Amino acid sequence: MKTKHSVVLTDSREMREISNESIDLVVTSPPYPMIEMWDDLFSSLSPTGAGALKKGDGNAAFDAMHVELDRVWREVDRVLKPGAFACINIGDATRTIVGRFRLYPNHSRIVSAFRSLGFDCLPVIHWRKQTNAPNKFMGSGMLPSGAYVTLEHEYVLIFRKDTKRKFATDAEKSARMRSAFFWEERNKWFSDVWDFKGTVQGLNHGDLRSRSGAYPLELAYRLINMYSLYEDAVLDPFLGTGTTTLASIACGRNSIGIEIDRAFSSFIFEQAGSFLDIGNQMVSTRISDHGQFIATHTKSKGPVKYVNRPHGFPVVTRQETGLQLHRITQIVSSPDLPIQASYEPVGRLDDAAYAEKEKDVLHNTGVKRPDLYRY
Ligand SMILES: C[S@@+](CC[C@H](N)C(=O)[O-])C[C@H]1O[C@@H](n2cnc3c(N)ncnc32)[C@H](O)[C@@H]1O
Repeated sequence: MKTKHSVVLTDSREMREISNESIDLVVTSPPYPMIEMWDDLFSSLSPTGAGALKKGDGNAAFDAMHVELDRVWREVDRVLKPGAFACINIGDATRTIVGRFRLYPNHSRIVSAFRSLGFDCLPVIHWRKQTNAPNKFMGSGMLPSGAYVTLEHEYVLIFRKDTKRKFATDAEKSARMRSAFFWEERNKWFSDVWDFKGTVQGLNHGDLRSRSGAYPLELAYRLINMYSLYEDAVLDPFLGTGTTTLASIACGRNSIGIEIDRAFSSFIFEQAGSFLDIGNQMVSTRISDHGQFIATHTKSKGPVKYVNRPHGFPVVTRQETGLQLHRITQIVSSPDLPIQASYEPVGRLDDAAYAEKEKDVLHNTGVKRPDLYRY
């Protein structure tokens, strides 16, 4: 398997390089309206927003900034295939302007934008970013009634364009089986609160990443696995440091990233060029976590019933029996060309080796004849 990853340094309010209905998934995080670090950028995109900020009219500035994001959402609608998902990470903003403290509800404004475009809204994820800083509480302290609740989460908004994606042909069905995730990953990833404490980030330049509002690699990695298949096309119209590119490489998806700030370009190519070990570590961690899960699960609940065909490990459900993980064998990253990644399957048991594993699992589980998915 091979994947390609383009980085286009342009303005995503017009994504001319991307054809209509060519993208399978959007994973992104826009600049957050009314968060001060993005004021200059929004002022350059919107003279109306700049004027409103200068006048101290917070509500008008908020509206003007979202008008610019709306232009990108319209483009997202144009390029997504019917049945495809858009996952938008966004936080609300709190800010005092001319003595007036207010919440600027970015997430609900973006939900309205997608609803007006005709997307279906789906249950959202709360990304919990708990802080223990002593100054995290705002307002009048212990005295009623002017203290404010602290924002300790961001959202991942999830939308679907049109009706469900169809997997009609045998090739599509098989690609879907290979792209499955583990039962225990489903239980964690499809919970509506995410907390990345304890997940290994492993990427360098932590300082640049936090100054640029980068999201954790794990966030993009989960979303891509949850909502796309191997070799699908993933788009990030606000690429920043290129986290979505890296996650797409790790997941075996193709990707296109659009970024207006040319300063990120060399950083993105450099990061991708040295990503092979980190990407492969993510896959090894999934396999070892699965092993640990199966050990604990077997102890508490008894043996599982199914065997995964490519790898030979025990799995809880029939849907996991075709799951196939890949190792990255090479990443070629040079500016001016799409980044290219090559892969080999991790589990590829031949019939004899599989029969051995199957016997092993059956023997250990006491299951006589599980209804196995033949890969
Ligand atoms: C919140 S950051 C994204 C961070 C990214 N998820 C990461 O992990 O690094 C938003 C990015 O969008 C870029 N941006 C803002 N407006 C844009 C536009 N109209 N077109 C393309 N990129 C834009 C900004 O320069 C910034 O890098």
